[in-house]
Amino acid sequence: MSLLDKIATIVASAGDILLEKMEAGFSICKKGQIDLVTDADHAVERFLISELKQAFPAASFCAEEQGWLEDNESDAVWFIDPLDGTTNFAHGFPYFSISVALAKNGQTVAGVVYNPVSKELFAAERGKGARRNGHPIKVSQNADLQDSLLVTGFPYNIKTSAENNFDQFSRATKASQGVRRTGSAALDLCNVACGRFDGYWEQLVNVWDIAAGALIVEEAGGTVTDYHGSALLHSSKSVIATNGLIHGQLLDVLQG
Ligand code: IPD
Ligand code: CA
Ligand code: CA
Repeated sequence: MSLLDKIATIVASAGDILLEKMEAGFSICKKGQIDLVTDADHAVERFLISELKQAFPAASFCAEEQGWLEDNESDAVWFIDPLDGTTNFAHGFPYFSISVALAKNGQTVAGVVYNPVSKELFAAERGKGARRNGHPIKVSQNADLQDSLLVTGFPYNIKTSAENNFDQFSRATKASQGVRRTGSAALDLCNVACGRFDGYWEQLVNVWDIAAGALIVEEAGGTVTDYHGSALLHSSKSVIATNGLIHGQLLDVLQG
């Protein structure tokens, strides 16, 4: 079994845990005023760490709920978001995902994003293309921002921060066919990768939200940078991902 298939098998099993929790019920806590976490987030994260550790012992972990787990001196690290779209999940809105990326020497080499409700599994290995449920995917061919469908997200400190994305949302809405807000950054990226959206941007994201999805977009032929058009790093706090053709136009609109 390939590396990607092994990761995908583990992530798909983690998806079953989310579906079981949705059915059986779960508890909700607040990490901030509007930043929720459920016992499903914790259960899936524990499962992923334990399974990935068994399958690939020589890697560290950076997981949303537990932070950095430095088990060894490896150059490899897993970036894990056990439940991307916790607010959707907590409200019973069936749109969320699991995101797992493997990075080596600072570069993402493999990524898997899984929507357990639709059973869509997006996966990419660097240099080998991107797939949805095993079939190759490509970004859209739309070259005009005015004809584009975009997607974005808003930060949890939206009520207090000046970086609240409101002005950018307004400008991008006027400059395109529309801007959606789905509540799962990882799926937003995958939907750019398979051509449903032409572009996605967000400020104040974390590496576990976007590492897997960014690789999937790149491997589907798209372009991913930070908010200023520079190469995306694991430390980047902003992201723009497009089909490549509208990247400059979207950058210009967002910069104002
Ligand atoms: C959030 C979602 C949301 C995005 C936020 C993320 P979480 O992740 O991806 O779409 O707008 O920036 O933090 O908290 O559900 O894992
Ligand atoms: Ca997330
Ligand atoms: Ca999460």
